[in-house]
Amino acid sequence: MALLLTIGTTKGGSGKTTLCVLLASVFAAKGFSVRILDADPQATAIQWYARSLDAGRKLENIAVDVVQGADQLAKALAAASGADVILIDVPGTVDEILNIAAAHSEMVLIPARASGADLPEVVRLLARLDAMYEGAKPFLTRCVLNGVSGIAKNTAAFKVAAAYIEDHAIPVTKTIVVERPVLQLMMMDGGPLGTMPGDAEQIRKAMVNGEMLADEIFETIAAVGAEQ
Ligand SMILES: Nc1ncnc2c1ncn2[C@@H]1O[C@H](COP(=O)(O)OP(=O)(O)OP(=O)(O)O)[C@@H](O)[C@H]1O
Ligand SMILES: [Mg+2]
Repeated sequence: MALLLTIGTTKGGSGKTTLCVLLASVFAAKGFSVRILDADPQATAIQWYARSLDAGRKLENIAVDVVQGADQLAKALAAASGADVILIDVPGTVDEILNIAAAHSEMVLIPARASGADLPEVVRLLARLDAMYEGAKPFLTRCVLNGVSGIAKNTAAFKVAAAYIEDHAIPVTKTIVVERPVLQLMMMDGGPLGTMPGDAEQIRKAMVNGEMLADEIFETIAAVGAEQ
């Protein structure tokens, strides 16, 4: 059975598509077949795929399908069941697409900058997901802090964000996705991450960061599965 992850947030520009492509890069490099379902009308994931092909990159183990609307998503999920990992990049709205994607997923990942703009959105989204399922969600939810630089972690702003996370009991991953120019380059110039030309050490660090996140996702899902 495929591992199914929804990547969603109502806050634009938090790193949904970047996280999706980073995880696709990591899972594909591990030898898993990955299917990204691009259900966001902005179609950023499929544009990334096209740019990657144009750049002549090897897109081994990665496919991207455009999905328009809830009906198409349901069909695409059925058709994609042969993949090892399915990643759904959902629109930035709480709607039927999010509902269907989440209901099929083991985990909903919510990327967020450690900011006063993103974190309250995470709280609202978690509350709406809880309300949809009356507190009995059939999937896990994890906020992934994204775009945090090494220096930023020592700032007062980050400490305030950490306190906000604690006060609001936001379930965050231990792994933070670090702000890295190579991730921006991956989105602009094509990927996947492991096939990009350029600073090999920066690419390796970004891969290790993505692997830590992928491992944590696996471990969290496995731990919950073992409890049931
Ligand atoms: N960890 C990171 N390091 C460097 N740049 C990043 C990182 N995460 C995201 N970005 C950059 O921030 C911008 C927004 O990221 P992205 O497009 O992934 O967000 P999104 O949530 O998918 O946005 P949208 O709401 O438009 O779908 C992009 O230019 C991307 O390259
Ligand atoms: Mg996007």
